[in-house]
Amino acid sequence: MLKNLRKRNLTARIRQPADEFWDRYLGVRTFGYHPGIGGPGEREWYMHYTPSSYKDVFAVLDRAGVGPDDVVTDLGCGLGRVVFAAAYRGAARVEGVELIPSLIAAAEANLASSRLKHRDIRFHARNALDHDLSGASFLYLFHPFGPEILGEVMEKARDDRRSAGSRRPLRIAYVNPIGESILNEADWLRPAGDMPPRHQWFSNALQYRTGFWESTDI
Ligand SMILES: C[S@@+](CC[C@H](N)C(=O)[O-])C[C@H]1O[C@@H](n2cnc3c(N)ncnc32)[C@H](O)[C@@H]1O
Repeated sequence: MLKNLRKRNLTARIRQPADEFWDRYLGVRTFGYHPGIGGPGEREWYMHYTPSSYKDVFAVLDRAGVGPDDVVTDLGCGLGRVVFAAAYRGAARVEGVELIPSLIAAAEANLASSRLKHRDIRFHARNALDHDLSGASFLYLFHPFGPEILGEVMEKARDDRRSAGSRRPLRIAYVNPIGESILNEADWLRPAGDMPPRHQWFSNALQYRTGFWESTDI
């Protein structure tokens, strides 16, 4: 099965050479695809796995100023590309949360083979709805789920922070922000800018707009 997966990813790896370079450099395999569940209009709308391009991830992390004081959480981390990129950029702790067990198992295997394996990196096989967000300082979302789950996750993030008495601001980057009205309407968040889709030479990876928000609750 793994062989088939590798074969299937060959075209993407050839057509996205910069991402192939970063995977090899970091000692991970993050190309892949896993189908989603549900669709628009359904509460249980869980998106398919397809990775962000490293160039976009680094641009988002740099725009948000992610650094050694940060605890980064990728909600819907798939094979962990964003997690490894954030650790490489110097975040103190990085965690990936993923619904699909086979993806998180492959992310764990990536950690074991990665040059970043001694860093504070954790993967959690769970629904984002069940993850404690009180300690995060930066949340990354690449359109992982539909608006209803997004709203519930955001309410939980607010409640987790309140009950833990979190003293640190939370920044959020939301790539392909189809549910952005939910964040705009949240009374504990304020919009913090926008990054347009960026053209990338020698890559067929899809490009998306990214919205940024930050908490106002401390
Ligand atoms: C578009 S992919 C993004 C992958 C990764 N964040 C990246 O940018 O490279 C969305 C991922 O979210 C996961 N996902 C969807 N709903 C989820 C949920 N409720 N909890 C955790 N993961 C979820 C999917 O399985 C998929 O791997």
